[in-house]
Amino acid sequence: MEHPDNVVLVIFGASGDLTSRKLVPALFSLKCQKLLPSGFAIVGSGRSSFTEDGFREKMRSAILSAHRDRNPDPGMIQEFLKLIYYVTMDSSVAETYSRLREKLDLLNSSKATGYNYIFYMATPPVLYEVISTNLAKAGLADQTAGFRRFIIEKPFGYDLASAQNLTRKLHGLISEKQIYRIDHYLGKETVQNILVTRFANGIFEPLWNRNYIHRVEITSAENIGVEERGGYYDSSGALRDMVQNHLLMMVGLTAMEPPSSLESDAIRNEILKVFQSLQPLQVSDVPKQVLRGQYVESRISGERIPGYRSEKGVSPASRTETYVAMKFYVNNWRWGGVPFYIRTGKRLPVKVTEIVIHFKRTPHHLFQRNEGSGNSNKLIMRIQPDEGMLLNFDMKEPGSGFNTKNVDMDLRYSSLADVRLPAAYERLLFDVMLGDSTLFSRDDVVETAWRFLEPVLDVWKNDPAIKLYGYPAGTWGPDVADNLVDGCGLTWRYPCNNLAEEGEFCEL
Ligand code: BG6
Repeated sequence: MEHPDNVVLVIFGASGDLTSRKLVPALFSLKCQKLLPSGFAIVGSGRSSFTEDGFREKMRSAILSAHRDRNPDPGMIQEFLKLIYYVTMDSSVAETYSRLREKLDLLNSSKATGYNYIFYMATPPVLYEVISTNLAKAGLADQTAGFRRFIIEKPFGYDLASAQNLTRKLHGLISEKQIYRIDHYLGKETVQNILVTRFANGIFEPLWNRNYIHRVEITSAENIGVEERGGYYDSSGALRDMVQNHLLMMVGLTAMEPPSSLESDAIRNEILKVFQSLQPLQVSDVPKQVLRGQYVESRISGERIPGYRSEKGVSPASRTETYVAMKFYVNNWRWGGVPFYIRTGKRLPVKVTEIVIHFKRTPHHLFQRNEGSGNSNKLIMRIQPDEGMLLNFDMKEPGSGFNTKNVDMDLRYSSLADVRLPAAYERLLFDVMLGDSTLFSRDDVVETAWRFLEPVLDVWKNDPAIKLYGYPAGTWGPDVADNLVDGCGLTWRYPCNNLAEEGEFCEL
């Protein structure tokens, strides 16, 4: 196992949710696994005024809450908290960076951190450029003394133009190699396992093409609504929030060619090629191939579930989509003619992310089919929860004759002894410390994804006739989504039934 160099991790926006829920718990896990370097410190910074002890106490609660199932060792937490510091500052004001500099100088002398800094922007995206500019002005961005790495969270822009603009501005200050764009789906074990399933096993890859695969289906469903993020979500929507990044990344890994090596650019080049091969959507394709929905009020187990428009921070007349389903093609040698179906939504019946490879049917049906049998074989990569892999096929039903029965070969990570799935942020933060950008989105990959989605954003924005379908919270989204999965009575895979007892499918 490689070990990272000594470093200080500076978190901007440290009093926010991301730091408490994900970053500090992930860093604590790294500490428990002895993966942090010997000279290491975390400097939280933000406008909220904390004493260092006050901030440490907040982080103690964050760790206890995030790791409540693991009963963390109080002694280890105490050790870890000693690595945490806090600087109260307004990151949009250049003058306040002298305070940060002083703290960093101090840590460099006391912990020999070698002037290596990682800057994590857990802030609203409008601040990415401002903070980078201020860091550059304070002499903290150039790499003459140590390395300087910048982590930014999605959204990387709001559309193609703003993404290009952000990249251009950042490139005016730092190089692409210093930028780590986090797509936390790439930090998930099961997402990385797509590559291993495909390229470490001889049995799948010969079948992994248009000759044997009928269609690819990717679902990322959530049962929660927008919770406390209505303000952000209402100006974003499911296409920007989930499709542009997480879902397209899963498409990239599922569809890519074998990389020439595990070098970060070798892998990212292959993802880029997939995105470059996405068949561009014409304006006239959008209503036929992309469908949007928004959850409306319903009742589940007797409880009233509010519709999206009644959520905090959401406009009562909002036309923002909380559900998207799409059909598209990857126009290349491997995938020509194979439809890809993707869907994501909030307030669906269950939280599940899975990639389903539907293989073609046998050319001739010899056997009598029972209900559920005679379908195509499916390989289901279960990304979360209940992580695993499921191969679905027909077998002979025991007894006389040749009746078939549809069964699953089911591997669950939970059945592998001693396997703990690390949180996505653990892997990603560790990789930044190592300087490995394989699991981070590169500028051209991000831009190509935006370019593919531009026609959808344009049509939705400019054509009021494009429908927005209301679906009752707790259902699998607009019922018309089945029309996207065309031909021979095909449907999406529904891992469970609708939950809503009341509520109307409607047009909004
Ligand atoms: C985030 C989105 O990127 O991913 C959220 O902004 C979404 O809206 C979340 O809830 C889903 O992540 P996960 O890991 O829970 O599937």
